[in-house]
Amino acid sequence: MYKLIIHGGISLNGSVITAGSKNSSLPILFASILANGPITLTNTPHLSDVSTTLRLLMDMGAEFILESDNSLFIDGSKLTNLVAQYNLVKTMRASILALGPMLTKYGKAKISLPGGCAIGSRPVNLHLEALENLGATIKVKNGYIYATAKELIGTKINFKQISVTATENIIMAATLATGITTIHNAAQEPEIVDLVNCLIKMGAIISGAGTSIVIIQGVDELSGVTYSVCPDRIEAGTYLVATAITGGKITIKNVHYQSMHAILEKLLETGADIKINENSIILDMKGRRPRSVNIRTSTYPNFPTDMQAQFTALNAIADGRSTITETIFENRFMHIPELSRMGANLVLKGNTVVCKGVKYLKGMPLIATDLRASASLVLAGLVATGTTTIERVYHLDRGYETIEEKLKLLGAQIERVQD
Ligand code: EPZ
Repeated sequence: MYKLIIHGGISLNGSVITAGSKNSSLPILFASILANGPITLTNTPHLSDVSTTLRLLMDMGAEFILESDNSLFIDGSKLTNLVAQYNLVKTMRASILALGPMLTKYGKAKISLPGGCAIGSRPVNLHLEALENLGATIKVKNGYIYATAKELIGTKINFKQISVTATENIIMAATLATGITTIHNAAQEPEIVDLVNCLIKMGAIISGAGTSIVIIQGVDELSGVTYSVCPDRIEAGTYLVATAITGGKITIKNVHYQSMHAILEKLLETGADIKINENSIILDMKGRRPRSVNIRTSTYPNFPTDMQAQFTALNAIADGRSTITETIFENRFMHIPELSRMGANLVLKGNTVVCKGVKYLKGMPLIATDLRASASLVLAGLVATGTTTIERVYHLDRGYETIEEKLKLLGAQIERVQD
């Protein structure tokens, strides 16, 4: 096990290249199951969730090669084992994304129930109900989902709640179904658009991705393809907040600012100067203390839940009072007790945190609990006086590529040491 040691109080200055999106890479890797040949992905991030997905696919019979130019060659076209085992699924809920592709390609799938995680119970009912609407027979027993389908038949799917991976699962299942599937109340995240762009390149017929109505016309087969994963808007947002919280200046390169409006609007409200170029964003805090901002998470294109913990850390030291309301997950406040130990004034009332910004946070030994909560602890450590240690950094490695190296390049005093 490793921990991070951060000596705080240094403002970040410099530039960072955004890695490929975790939440695009995962569904696109599972989409390799649909193809009749290998796919080659470029710009895939070096993250433990990507490694977990590759292990899961390999376990099912896929083959992959990490090329010298960092591109990923993966052949998921001939699976020999249609089972996603609990030991891997339990570490990554997104494993449920194997279900739709396996079912539509092979007519059967056995997938461990993903189970909950620190941020919530994370049910999969929306995935299962929609697949049954497409004609699948689904049984859940002994902690596994048993799904069979002689044929999936296109139909109208109306999600009673917006779900990112449920939308992705049904889009993938519908690509090889018979007839037309229309999804209503679809999630609109940019990562869904990225997945669909890849599927269309593979030969899928899909319209409406990025809106609440997505229409998929089933085809007989999809082919292998070469595809470049879009930049990770949450990683980019995290480094922008790290700069705002420490009063520095940063240039974020290789970024799609168009998918970050809600994040950028909030950063402007904190008093940051922001300049946008073709595929880079410059944020300059000019040494100022950020102003507090009210946050209410929601589905895209509104403020993303994956940026809530990072802005909570910013509000903890910002000038003024603020409220942070989490509407997507029932328990995405695991960072609150740790930030409070550093001296933050945060009071949790139901799904809202009332925050009164303090001038200083004190470095402290902390424990990470989930991916974005750990990011918020890193941001707090960067601005705190004294030394902060963060244990269980494997949570961070799920979604941030070599975070301490990138922060060091920006001037942070941070190192990873064996526990
Ligand atoms: C995706 O998770 C992302 N993960 C999450 O990112 C992100 O926080 C989330 O979408 C919301 O934007 C990936 O894309 C791999 P949901 P997902 O289904 O699809 C409820 C990160 O930090 N729900 O959109 O699992 C659910 O409990 C991760 O990168 C059901 O009730 O989230 C939640 O309250 C964390 N039944 C709400 O819907 C279902 O069948 C939205 O969840 C599915 C979801």
